[in-house]
Amino acid sequence: MIDDATVDALFAAAAAARAQAYAPYSRFAVGAALVTPEGAIHAGCNVENAAYPVGSCAEAGAISAMVAGGGHRIAAILVLGGGDALCTPCGACRQRLREFAAENATVLVAGPEGVRRSFTLGELLPASFGPDVLDAAGGAR
Ligand code: THU
Repeated sequence: MIDDATVDALFAAAAAARAQAYAPYSRFAVGAALVTPEGAIHAGCNVENAAYPVGSCAEAGAISAMVAGGGHRIAAILVLGGGDALCTPCGACRQRLREFAAENATVLVAGPEGVRRSFTLGELLPASFGPDVLDAAGGAR
């Protein structure tokens, strides 16, 4: 579980990043902020591209910021999008999170008004394939 102060800090960081989103094609701005087990917060926004598939998600930006800052584990992430529907991480980002987060990591889905719902990564990506699977194979092919 993450405490209220951390949720507030994640929301503020995600909102600040979302304000910088580059989303001229979808017009759907997203911000994400994650916290490491050490308490460091890293944020990202979506960055689209005229070549549409080249665009990147807010979660990917937050993960890149974490790795560039020396972090390697995600305790929780908050994703902030607009509209009435839940802005849950896309399938590719669920897998990106899996690389650095345990199945019990918290994924908070928020709208501009605040947190809407809380998931675990395992709920969003059940029976997942992660680094531990390769570890268990011991280098076998
Ligand atoms: N997007 C994210 O950045 N994160 C999500 O969790 C869902 C979708 C972005 C990708 C694209 O720039 C825009 O939202 C519309 O799909």
